[in-house]
Amino acid sequence: MAKPMIEAVDVIKSFGDVKALNGVNVSVPEGSIHGLLGHNGAGKTTLVHILSTLLPPTGGSARICGFDVATRPKEVRRCIGLTGQFASVDEQLNGRENLALVARLLGASRRQAVARADELLETFELTDAAKRPVLQYSGGMRRRLDIAASLVGGPRVIFLDEPTTGLDPNARIGVWETIERLAKDGTAVLLTTQYLEEADRLCEQITVLSEGSVVAGGNPADLKAEVGQRMVTVTMAAESDVPVAVKALEGAGIRATPQESGKAISAPVAAAADLAVVVRILSDADTEIAELALTEPTLDDVYLTLTHEAAGKPVPA
Ligand SMILES: Nc1ncnc2c1ncn2[C@@H]1O[C@H](COP(=O)(O)OP(=O)(O)OP(=O)(O)O)[C@@H](O)[C@H]1O
Ligand SMILES: [Mg+2]
Repeated sequence: MAKPMIEAVDVIKSFGDVKALNGVNVSVPEGSIHGLLGHNGAGKTTLVHILSTLLPPTGGSARICGFDVATRPKEVRRCIGLTGQFASVDEQLNGRENLALVARLLGASRRQAVARADELLETFELTDAAKRPVLQYSGGMRRRLDIAASLVGGPRVIFLDEPTTGLDPNARIGVWETIERLAKDGTAVLLTTQYLEEADRLCEQITVLSEGSVVAGGNPADLKAEVGQRMVTVTMAAESDVPVAVKALEGAGIRATPQESGKAISAPVAAAADLAVVVRILSDADTEIAELALTEPTLDDVYLTLTHEAAGKPVPA
C-alpha cells in the first residue's frame, strides 16, 4: 500500500452545539481519487477545510504529505491545492491574469508566472479565452479556471469541493478527465460530491458521510455488492400468470413482488446464476415468460439505504 498523502484520524469538529464531524477517518494514497459523499450539511466542506488548514479540528488529527495540519500548517499549505465549493477567482481579471496572480503569490517571477499561467490555460483548454475577463466566462469555464488556479503550485495533494456542481454534462466530463489526468500524474485527490455517478466513475475509494459520521466506506463495486440488491424482473406473457408465478416463487423461498405495469414481477436475487433457478421454477409452474431482465444495484441504492439507516428512517421502496 502506498504511503497515505491525506490522512484524517478520528477527526471531530464542533461548532457550538452542532457536531459537524463525529470522528472521521480517511486515508488517500498518491495517485488515487477519494470521494466524500453526503447530503447537504453532512460535513464534507468542514472536513476539507480542516484538511487544508482553514479550520482547526476540535479533536483527532490529520496529516497531509506527512505534515500535521495543527503543528505544520505552512508545510501543509505548500503541498496542497484547494478548489472551494464557491468560485474564488477574480471576476474583473482575465483568465491569464488570475492564474499569473496566484503564481506571483506563490513566489514566481513575473515571467515564470505568465509561463505557468499559459501552460495551465492550454491544459484546461482556456487559451482562447485567456484575455477575456472571467465575468464573461460560462460556469464550466469558470470551474476549469478555478481548478487550474489550485494547480499553479504543482501540488501533490488536491482538494476539490463539489468540482462539477452546476455544470452541464459536457463540461462535467471535461472536469472529470482533468481530475483523472491529475491522479495519473501521481496527485492524491479528495473530492466531495453529491453525484453518485461522479463517485462511481472517478473514485477508487468512497467515504459516505451522514450527519458528521462515516456510514460506509470502500470501493464503489464493493459498496454496491454489500448494500445494493440485484433484482430480476420477469414479464409474464399473460397477466393471469402473475399470481401463479408469485406463488411458485414463494414456494421456493423467493419473495416476488408484482409490478404496477400488470404483467411484471420482480424479486431479489443473490447471483446472476439464480436467474436460471427463477426460470426453472416458472416453467415448472406452467407459466410463460415474455421477458427477463437483471438489474444491478446502483450507488444511488447504496446511498439511500445507508443514509436512511443512519438517520433511523425507513428506506423508501
Ligand atoms: N462556521 C460554521 N458555524 C456553525 N456551523 C457550521 C459552520 N460551518 C458548518 N457548520 C455546520 O456544520 C454542518 C456541516 O456543514 P458542511 O458545510 O461541512 O456540510 P456539507 O456536507 O459541505 O454540505 P453541502 O453539501 O451543503 O455543501 C452543518 O450542520 C453546518 O450548518
Ligand atoms: Mg459543502
